[in-house]
Amino acid sequence: MKTEILTVHTPFREEEIEALDRAGACLRAGGLVIFPTETVYGLGADATDAEAAHRIYEAKGRPSDNPLIVHVAEPSDAEKYTITTPLYERLASRFMPGPLTVIMPCRESIPRAVTAGLSTVAIRCPAHPVAHALLCKAGIPIAAPSANLSGSPSPTRADHVIEDMDGRVDMILDGGECEIGLESTIIKIDSEDTVTLLRPGAITVEMLADVVPHIEIADAVLSAMSENTPVLSPGMKYRHYAPKTPLYLLDGHRDACLAYLRTRPQGSAVLCYDEDLSSYQTLLPKIVFFSFGALADEGTQAHRLFTLLREIDKRGFSDIYAPLPRKSGLGLALYNRMIRAAAHQIIHLEEKEEVENG
Ligand code: TXA
Ligand code: MG
Repeated sequence: MKTEILTVHTPFREEEIEALDRAGACLRAGGLVIFPTETVYGLGADATDAEAAHRIYEAKGRPSDNPLIVHVAEPSDAEKYTITTPLYERLASRFMPGPLTVIMPCRESIPRAVTAGLSTVAIRCPAHPVAHALLCKAGIPIAAPSANLSGSPSPTRADHVIEDMDGRVDMILDGGECEIGLESTIIKIDSEDTVTLLRPGAITVEMLADVVPHIEIADAVLSAMSENTPVLSPGMKYRHYAPKTPLYLLDGHRDACLAYLRTRPQGSAVLCYDEDLSSYQTLLPKIVFFSFGALADEGTQAHRLFTLLREIDKRGFSDIYAPLPRKSGLGLALYNRMIRAAAHQIIHLEEKEEVENG
């Protein structure tokens, strides 16, 4: 199919409003429209139309047992598709519109194709002005997974989307770079005082703790899924965000990482912090270093991660090394994405003293 690519930046002028009108009409007619959100680009279709949802799975090459997120224009629209509770209201008033997805019991207005047969549905109200305008123009809820081919990193720029999806969808709305760069935080409401974190994101555990007394962290957030673990979120069982080049995470201090990288052959790529870039590059000229953001600036690291993985992948390195993120704040989201991208290959490095002593 011929994919129409339209640039839609804010503030909207006449031609942008016209593009949004056409994209809304395309969605109402059962078409596929890719649009920017504050997290990553989404591949959208009418969430009330089972056939349109099937088209999403087909375009992405996504297994049909992996449910889609339903995007709404206003937090209060959730009530039409799910049974909300006072806890949802509190979460919504604090974090929506924004990068939070909440899983609740599903109403019949959403077809099983969207929820992959589950009795629950994931609801998200995006903050991006283009996503919001599209939802308003379409006048329907939009089911949308990340707009990458299944298995590759989520797209955070229109050129990523075009690379994966040109010819597979009706329209692509190019709204520039996504601000956050990692997908939304996903929580499931278990009771009025407990939620389970299924996927960490920019709404951190620490932020959620202001609103919810108990936050369970699903096992799959921090580790590989074991055979016996019940699958809380079908998406967790798939290999995700994976670059084609093997990625290894280094767990150790600066000196231990440097000593390890010294042993690596020519042809390796390394993600490092801004502070280390020039000294590392001088010390190890055979390795190509990519700056990932300042050590304390996890926002920039999140923003750059998927773009860097895509870029490095294209340049044909033999392997990629990256520091293992911390597990708190936004670091938890980076940790979660990076252990998946690395297929859980973590290299635990000894401290220098320990090596010398032992
Ligand atoms: O930031 C985001 O959330 C982006 C943008 C486009 O909104 N969307 C996104 O969608 O990341 P996707 O499909 O790539 O990831 C959604 C995850 C999947 O792992 C899926 O299994 C899980 O949400 N999910 C959806 N509905 C669910 C449900 N009812 N129960 C458990 N997990 C669910
Ligand atoms: Mg995805």
